[in-house]
Amino acid sequence: MRTDTGQVFKLSDYQPTDYLIASTHMTFRLEEGKATCKAVLSVERRDGVAEGAPLVLDGDGLDLASLKLDGKLLNEGYEATPDRLTLANPPARFDLEIVTRLDPDANKALSGLYRSSGNYCTQCEAEGFRRITYFLDRPDVLSVYSVRIEAPKDGHPVMLSNGNPGETGDLREGWHFAEWHDPHPKPSYLFALVAGDLARVSDRFTTMEGRPVDLGIYVEHGKEDRAAYAMDALKRSMRWDEEVFGRAYDLDVFNIVAVSDFNMGAMENKGLNVFNDKYVLADEATATDADFANIEAIIAHEYFHNWTGNRITCRDWFQLCLKEGLTVFRDHEFSADMRSRGVKRIAEVRLLKSHQFPEDAGPLAHPVRPRAYREINNFYTATVYEKGSEVVRMIRTVLGAETFRAGMDLYFERHDGDAATIEDFLACFEDASGRNLSQFALWYHQAGTPHLSIKASHDARTGQFVLDVEQSVPATPGESRKKLMHIPLAFGLVGPDGEDMAPTGIEGAEVRDGVIHLTKRKHTIRFSGIHERPVPSLLRGFSAPVTLAFEQSEADRMFLARHDNDAFSRWQALDRLFSDELIRLTRLARGGKAMAVDRQLVALAGEIAADGALEPAYRSLALTLPGEADIAREIGEDVDPDAIFAARNVLSTAIADGNGDGFRQLYDGLEETGRFRPDAAQAGRRALRLTLLGYLTGEAETALAKAHFDTAGNMTDLAGALAVLTQKAGGSAAAEAALEAFEARFRDDPLVLDKWFSMQAMMPGDAALARVKGLMDHPGFQIANPNRVRSLIGIWASANQTGFHRPDGEGYAFFAETVLAIGKMNPQVAARLATALRSWRSLEPKRREKARKALVSMANAPDLSTDLKDIVDRTLA
Ligand code: ARG
Ligand code: ZN
Repeated sequence: MRTDTGQVFKLSDYQPTDYLIASTHMTFRLEEGKATCKAVLSVERRDGVAEGAPLVLDGDGLDLASLKLDGKLLNEGYEATPDRLTLANPPARFDLEIVTRLDPDANKALSGLYRSSGNYCTQCEAEGFRRITYFLDRPDVLSVYSVRIEAPKDGHPVMLSNGNPGETGDLREGWHFAEWHDPHPKPSYLFALVAGDLARVSDRFTTMEGRPVDLGIYVEHGKEDRAAYAMDALKRSMRWDEEVFGRAYDLDVFNIVAVSDFNMGAMENKGLNVFNDKYVLADEATATDADFANIEAIIAHEYFHNWTGNRITCRDWFQLCLKEGLTVFRDHEFSADMRSRGVKRIAEVRLLKSHQFPEDAGPLAHPVRPRAYREINNFYTATVYEKGSEVVRMIRTVLGAETFRAGMDLYFERHDGDAATIEDFLACFEDASGRNLSQFALWYHQAGTPHLSIKASHDARTGQFVLDVEQSVPATPGESRKKLMHIPLAFGLVGPDGEDMAPTGIEGAEVRDGVIHLTKRKHTIRFSGIHERPVPSLLRGFSAPVTLAFEQSEADRMFLARHDNDAFSRWQALDRLFSDELIRLTRLARGGKAMAVDRQLVALAGEIAADGALEPAYRSLALTLPGEADIAREIGEDVDPDAIFAARNVLSTAIADGNGDGFRQLYDGLEETGRFRPDAAQAGRRALRLTLLGYLTGEAETALAKAHFDTAGNMTDLAGALAVLTQKAGGSAAAEAALEAFEARFRDDPLVLDKWFSMQAMMPGDAALARVKGLMDHPGFQIANPNRVRSLIGIWASANQTGFHRPDGEGYAFFAETVLAIGKMNPQVAARLATALRSWRSLEPKRREKARKALVSMANAPDLSTDLKDIVDRTLA
């Protein structure tokens, strides 16, 4: 583990390397959990670099066995520490042979070469390759790799690396070897190796260019049937990228390996994607509809990286969003095409608001393209990924779909084989469109969620409708003064018949295709020919990631929720109504006052639930009240999670009481009779049925949920009913019996048991902490496994507002202790967990002080990793 040195890396310090590594030949010998790596680097001094310039290679905790220059053992002229290898005065061109001894069994950080369930695997992004050998471990050094793996046949029938397979054969004494060659030059972070005993699920795909590709998904023996959905998603992704972006696959094989110990979701290594098994394995008995949807999206995401990430990579890690934001945008579009576009957009915006908005509003805020970092692993954030995707979406909104596609084509043509920058990317869209995007580029450079404040007025006599719009960007750490941004605001003026009105003229801003382009601090936009008062529908499709203050009557919002012709806007109007009501009720709860719920809202919820013209998936989302953390973010200061919880309970009980009979009828009518399919239509019906079940369940009403649980024919219904029981009737006999039954059935299936951990971690109130502590002693819980840790500790700290933010601060103290313990093994996972405290400053004073103490106790702990130190210091700053 690297302990913190306080070093800060800056974008403005970027320099190309003095040396290039044209090719890299690696030989791995794997035996008994130990490994040696021989790497032969063909090094060349770059043109124009002075003779005698030292070669400085990155390392991280390396144990050097030997070093040869052009085949001769080196005894002098170099300096090697575990973290660096320096050749003082190397020749202009030479082969450097480096032999390192590795200890994959001892590698609990899960970065570099490690073992998971006995199988060897690697994770090199961002800086894991330097834990394997000394290298110019940065994304702008592209090299052609050949890899040879040698291991005992026993226990290692499968030996994989990047690119196309080469020779295989036997060696002495029960050993064998396999060779791989990747013709595409790539940065070291895309290197991968896998060796072990795994089952292969095979298929074939022929690209639009006529190239036959062997597809393989490697899973633990006995889990082959659970890989079918992932394989299907892979083939659909390959076809979609051809059809929508004109991109074909470029090797003879494409392999995916599922591993059970993995720090993130998955990794796009060239030709050899490595996945967290949670995002590969699924069947109806063990995975929920949400799991299927995640698998589809992540398989697509990693596959799409082959062009946006691998063929065109990043010049440096400041450009991370160049591949991540763009690839998230691509996987969102893929899912929208595979499922329901309207519903997908609502789910995306929900995620953006719940994960990215609080990041942008707190101490960890950073631009989509950061200017500085201490630990790059801490920048795989919702801002880089999700806001990064929104920025690409806005480019398409600003330019139009056709010009956007022309810009993408130009990007692929111009930069194939490059390590590129955001400036390179934007230049392609400027050249394809002839537009200047310099103001738009601020979306990459300025942190913080822009705010729009809008006022409307109408004069029936003159037929003038006016929108007064003002933008502001809040200060964020290190950026106190902000520039004005280019904000595309999609809108409609909805007439009494629900149709958009057509103004005869618009002045005050550039308006094209239903989008107002805001570029100044203030715009007064005048629409003429509007003789009846319109109901403005603003920020349609969430055309920009901004917050919006627009005074609109409840009647107008209800009108939009019922009649807007844009599905997303209908949801947005309803969400605003629910949020405002929850904020109002929270104030009453804090003041100890009685909470009376708005009856009109209760009726509207019933109406939407019963509206057969709306997709069930939409209705399910619409009936899911804004989360407690979302209300906390909107309130913004002096947050009392218990008051929010009480308010949400009161509203949800009122909706249930007001619509009980109707909900019950709907619930009964949604029972699935046909064969299980994980498609969007069936999943939507199951989701709506479970949402209704939530309303129909309470501490004294557990029978229906119990019956749902007992008769469930798939994991969606089983886990859904269990979640309802534990959330709405936690501690009841029915909930406890269901938990027990679930554990008895799935105790040997770690991915399913994770759901059981999460549901208990989510149980509201003070009971959660004791449960979490107790469950850490469950035989199925392993503190070294990231999925287990995230399911239990992560869910409790980031998704259970009342259970984590206990008034007595016991939650924070236990959390600090646990994060420190995890940090000793796995710095990346610990640092990610620690972000659960990022919004501590908006808590009410008593909790705030207790949260601060917990953070300080972490900051002061000895030997902190750079990862954790960076997060804790920035959170406290
Ligand atoms: N590039 C991976 C993705 O597709 C994420 C890997 C991040 N790994 C890390 N250790 N930070 O999103
Ligand atoms: Zn990615």
